Order: sequence, then C-alpha cells, then structure tokens
Amino acid sequence: MRVLVIGSGAREHALCVALQSDPAVGALACAPGNAGTRGVAPPPPGGETLVVADPVAVADVARGWSADLVVIGPEVPLVAGAADAVREAGIACFGPSAQAAQLEGSKSFAKHVMTAAGVPTARSWAVGGAPELETALDEVAALTGGAPYVVKDDGLAAGKGVVVTPDRAAAAAHGRRVLDAGGSVLVEEYLDGPEVSLFAVTDGTTVLPLLPAQDHKRRDDGDAGPNTGGMGAYAPLPWAPAGLVEEVLATVLQPTVDEMARRGEPFSGLLYAGLALTSRGVRVVEFNARFGDPETQVVLPLLENPLAGLLHAAATGELAGHPPLRWRNGAAVTVVVAAPGYPEAPRTGDPITGADGDGVLHAGTTVNPEGTVLSAGGRVLAVTAVGADLAAARQAAYERVAGVRLADAHWRTDIALAAVEGRVAVG
Ligand code: AMP
Ligand code: GLY
Repeated sequence: MRVLVIGSGAREHALCVALQSDPAVGALACAPGNAGTRGVAPPPPGGETLVVADPVAVADVARGWSADLVVIGPEVPLVAGAADAVREAGIACFGPSAQAAQLEGSKSFAKHVMTAAGVPTARSWAVGGAPELETALDEVAALTGGAPYVVKDDGLAAGKGVVVTPDRAAAAAHGRRVLDAGGSVLVEEYLDGPEVSLFAVTDGTTVLPLLPAQDHKRRDDGDAGPNTGGMGAYAPLPWAPAGLVEEVLATVLQPTVDEMARRGEPFSGLLYAGLALTSRGVRVVEFNARFGDPETQVVLPLLENPLAGLLHAAATGELAGHPPLRWRNGAAVTVVVAAPGYPEAPRTGDPITGADGDGVLHAGTTVNPEGTVLSAGGRVLAVTAVGADLAAARQAAYERVAGVRLADAHWRTDIALAAVEGRVAVG
C-alpha cells in the first residue's frame, strides 16, 4: 500500500513512524513534511511546497504519486474539503468531509450536534453582537456563581480562540475582539476537573476508541503562563476512573457518530473528544476532527495493531471487521521543545543538533541547503519515550531532551509529573 500523510508537524512525524512499521506499507510519503519526516517519508513530487489548505493541490499530489491511502493530519485542510477532493479522485482517504469536519470548525455546530445526540457538554450561549455578549455573561455568572468566564471564538483559531478568566472585563474584551473581526462568539459554563483527550477511529458507523491521554496546554510548569498548542502529553492515565473509555464510547462518541450519520453527514476519520471529568460527571469541552497534537505522539507508540490497516479500514467503511485494538504495557511521555518567544512571537532559523535520535519527533523544523536542521516554528520538537511505567517513560523522555541543542529553547519540566505523584484528582 502507498500511503501519503498530509501535514508538517510532530503529529505527522509520529504518524509516519507508526505507518513505517506496518508491513503492509510499501511506500510512504509526507507532504509538505519537515526535517524529521523527510527521513522516513520523503515528500512526493511537488509535495515539498504543498499548500495543505488547497484541496485541489492535495488531491493532485496524491494522484500524481499514485497514493492508495491519504491520511490528513491537520484541521485546516479537512475543513477546506481536502478529504472530499481526495475521495473524488478515487483515492481512499482517512479524514472527514468538510461538512463533517464542522464538528471542529464550528463550535456552535458541534453544540447543535451534541444537543441533538444528548451528549453531555457545557451550557453555552451563541452570541452575534455586543449587547448579547453582556447578557450571556450575566446569565452565565448567575448560573455558575463566581466560576471563571469562558469565551470562545466560534471558528478555527489554532488554539488561540479561547479565554478562561475570572476577569469579566477581560472576558468581554476577548468576545468583542472576535465580534469586531467579523466572527461569532460562544460564552460557556465553566467546567472544572482534569481534562482527558480520548481519540476514536471511525468509519462513520463503527467506533474504535484509542487510549486516553492528557495534554498540558499551558506554557509553563505548574500550568502557568499562556495557552499553547500543547507543551507535552502522556498516556495512559493511571488516575482515570475504571470504565471511562466504555462510558465515553456509549455517551459521547457513538451517539455523535450516529447523529452525524442521521444528518446525512457521516463522520469518518479521527473523532477527538476533549473531555472534562467534572464533579458532575464527564462533559465534552470540544471535538476535533483529527489526531491531537501532542497526544498522538504518546498514543501511537503504544498501539500494537498495524496503523495503515486500521486507517485504511476506517477510510473504506470496513471497521466492523477490524480486529480489536491491542495496547502495549507501559506508558509514553512526550515533551515539546519550544522556540524562544513561543507562543507569542517564536524566533525561528536557529540551528538544532541532536534532533535525529530515537523518539525525537520534528514539529517546526526545516533543512537549509548546507544540510543543517533549523527551527521553523514555535513548537520545534516533541521528544518522546516509552517506558515500563509513567515514571520510567518520563525519565527516558527527559534524558532525550537533554541530548537536544537549540539556543534559548524552553520546555516544561513537569510533563506527567502530577500523574506520577498521584496528584490528579477526578471531580
Ligand atoms: P477549546 O479550544 O475549546 O479546546 O479550548 C481550549 C482550552 O480551554 C481547553 O482545553 C480547556 O482547557 C479550556 N476550556 C475550554 N472550554 C472550557 C470550559 N467550558 N470550561 C473550562 N475550561 C475550558
Ligand atoms: N492537543 C490539542 C489539540 O490537538 O488540539
């Protein structure tokens, strides 16, 4: 099977590493890719400069390379219709249609689907103008009595669209900024409790959940500093309640997939449920329509089933006949090495050494004509290790981080630490 991965982050590098070890994969390519993916999955002709947001260009590269399966990593091409274009070209594609990707692309669409499917989520107010914004903030304050305000950009915002703050003026200012830019806003009830990312592979009917993982979204140790795209992750979750995956499958994942099918917009691909385990039970924080980053970097190394076979079965509607998923014993930890200035204004163009070792997944990297690997984005590397347990995986990941050199880089030193120390409490 010839497999083409679309994207250029550490998630795509992790996908390539896992796909490479599937004996069914005869050829592997990644477009546009980065300095890490090119070693495992060189870009196909025309792929190195691929604009992933252009569905026609994605389909052309796939056709030109005679791909049998295309795996689309990021949300932007999915929302733009890249999976539709690839399927129209007669090529199997792992990833939802543009319509179905609205589960991620529009938070208000996701809320409508959840309401129709009876899926537990935060109460929310859709706001189209400034007066409504103030009313919604009044109502949520009356409902939650002193909890932080949650104000979201309704559309795709690459992790920068959400403000969670006790400061009403700051919450209102964020909402007005989005409205002034022509967007719409969602005000939400605050959800307490630890967050869990649970991914499921689906063909639109059958749903196979993967291992729960946890992301660390704040930049600094102790969950301080600004929100980021994710600074590290670990799996599995030793503190997760027994039966969590079965409960989420029954109350969130399957009802959502069934509701999408009922609407005539079947969702196939990766359904990512971002969950809060609150004092009142499991609630959906958000859906994403693709593998999460950095959680993918810890979930895939623990999967024993061949990945291409799984994704191909989902892409072709044959998941019901797929063998059950099997997981390695042990745990995985990934630590994101970020450029100075990330997330506000990352500095790029710095040389990196020690980035070719085992488990060093590339995110924002490129190679100059002399062959030197350079930083090319805010999140530069995701350094990953597997161990017999979470403590061992953590230690191994940080040993690998110590072997990387990037001037003024920063990373959190406490990825998975609260879990190792038994300090994560479920509401
Ligand atoms: P989202 O873009 O919806 O994933 O939100 C980004 C992050 O903001 C989430 O991972 C949470 O940490 C936080 N967040 C979003 N919605 C809520 C909520 N209703 N209550 C508490 N925190 C939230
Ligand atoms: N881990 C957060 C995301 O992928 O959106």
